[in-house]
Amino acid sequence: MQWRNSPTRYGLVSILLHWVVALVVFGMFALGLWMVGQDYYSPWYRTAPEIHKGIGLILFAVMLARLAWRFLSPPPPAPASHGRLTRVGAKAGHALLYLGLFALMISGYLISTADGRGISVFGLFEVPATLTAIPDQEDVAGKVHLYLAWALVIFAGVHALAALKHHFIDRDATLVRMFGRGANHRA
Ligand code: HEM
Repeated sequence: MQWRNSPTRYGLVSILLHWVVALVVFGMFALGLWMVGQDYYSPWYRTAPEIHKGIGLILFAVMLARLAWRFLSPPPPAPASHGRLTRVGAKAGHALLYLGLFALMISGYLISTADGRGISVFGLFEVPATLTAIPDQEDVAGKVHLYLAWALVIFAGVHALAALKHHFIDRDATLVRMFGRGANHRA
């Protein structure tokens, strides 16, 4: 399989980025919900948020690289069988996933840095606080982060269902393309 995307296939870089980010998004959602339920006496009370924040900041860097890669190596156009509405819907849906994910990560950063302290990424380096003057920043960003997380996970679920519909009902190449296959026997 080639690294770059081609006019008919997704390449290895885009495929790996897609599935790693998908796993991390669902994993971070579960970790986030679980960690806010831990009480002060839990051994995870401090560690789980450290992990959540560290992974979130690394994910931010990965998503910037993903966007740069998308620019350098554009994704293949939609399968030939997709009508106009499907193409526009898919484009808008993907754009919303990118946007939602960035908004989610930024709101998380704004919660953790509201008190002016930076975030240590697994003790390796620190990302400094920047914006700290939003009124009730921690609360506001916290609410935004929670609602956005739910919205994004539900939307990603709809996105996954759409991929399954393409695979099992329309029988086109949409899903297999994200596993490195070309159109071949599918439209
Ligand atoms: C198990 C769940 C998932 C499945 C089955 C799935 C499936 C797919 C498929 C088949 C495509 C290619 C669509 C096409 O070629 O038109 C795609 C693209 C995409 N997916 Fe997913 N996906 C899943 C989870 C996620 C998650 C959690 C996110 C992020 C929150 C995500 C974000 C995206 C984006 C942004 C694209 C567009 C990629 C590009 O061309 O730039 N997906 N997905």
